[in-house]
This record gives sequence, structure tokens and C-alpha cells, in this order.
Amino acid sequence: MEKLKLVISQDKIGAKVKELAQTISRDYKDKKPVFIGILKGAFIFLADLVRSVELQNLEIDFVRLASYGTSDKSSGQVKIVKDIELDIKNKDVLVVEDIIDTGLTLSFFLKYLEKFSPQSVKVCCLIDKPERREIEVPIHYRGFYIPQGFLVGYGLDFAEKYRHLPEVYEIIRE
Ligand code: PRP
Ligand code: MN
Ligand code: MG
Repeated sequence: MEKLKLVISQDKIGAKVKELAQTISRDYKDKKPVFIGILKGAFIFLADLVRSVELQNLEIDFVRLASYGTSDKSSGQVKIVKDIELDIKNKDVLVVEDIIDTGLTLSFFLKYLEKFSPQSVKVCCLIDKPERREIEVPIHYRGFYIPQGFLVGYGLDFAEKYRHLPEVYEIIRE
């Protein structure tokens, strides 16, 4: 069994989401952005973020990416399990991610998006965790910088467990 240690409280997440939403609303004012959430991890963050932004024209889409293997270690091989559905040609895309760890998932997806010729692509992530970064990726809107640890909750899982928790925890293995 794992022990969970609280890392980011519900209050802190709420305040941060609001802050990010304000900045994003300002930057995308007069634009018609498409927010693309990377499933499954980003589902809660995206849901909270879009309800906090103040934008008239906003579209939402999802992609489901998965790295091969079910362990907590990324294998580096990313595949598309469910593709985006909206036409993003000439659109301003904001990729919404729960956590950036090695950077491999995001790096793959940013490259993949290029072929659709969007007008712009920016990245918003709740948690930047540089401990295991293997490839540099741009982060335009960053929620929290957490140096290390295996994190779960608020969308993040450990072998599909703990996604539903409203706070972020670190798993402490015994
Ligand atoms: C997790 C997380 C990010 C990715 C980050 O997704 O949600 O998408 O890993 O890791 P990386 O920077 O090392 O690529 P995962 O592949 O576990 O799928 P999930 O979102 O369905 O949990
Ligand atoms: Mn994910
Ligand atoms: Mg996962």
C-alpha cells in the first residue's frame, strides 16, 4: 500500500487556476482559441480552467495520448489513442496538460500539431516537474513548479488510481 502526502491543497489549486485563467483571458482577448486537453490526466484541470476564463469564443477539444506501458516510468513511446476532432488550421491553440515530467508526451504532441497548420500553439500546464526532464518543451502558462516526487490526484494517476482526488499528493512508498 502507498501512503499519500498532501502537496497542493484544493485552495491553492483553486487560486492558481483563477490566476492562470486571468492571464489567459487577457492574452486571448479578441481571439477564438481552441483549448486541447490531453486525456486522461488533464480532464479536471481543463474543466476547472475553462469555467474560470472569461472569453466569448472558446472551443474545446481533447486528444488522448498514452505512453506505452503502465508503470510509473515513461517509456518514451507515445501513441494517439483518440485524435483531436476540431479543425485547428489557422486557430490559436492552447494545449492543456496536467503535468510535464520527461517532456516526451508534450514534445510528441507539439510536433504532431504542426501538420494541422495552427496559427499559434501555446502550452498551459498545472505542474512542471523537471526532475526527469529528457527533452526541453515550452511552457507558456505554468501553475506549480514541483521539483520531484511521484504525484497523484486532480487528474493524475498511479496505475489509474487517485485521479478523482481534489488535491495533489505525493506517493510515499513504504
Ligand atoms: C501523464 C501525464 C502527462 C504525461 C507527462 O500521462 O498526464 O500527460 O504523463 O509525462 P511525460 O512528460 O514524462 O511525458 P499518462 O501518459 O500517464 O496518461 P494519462 O494522462 O492517461 O494518465
Ligand atoms: Mn496525461
Ligand atoms: Mg498517467
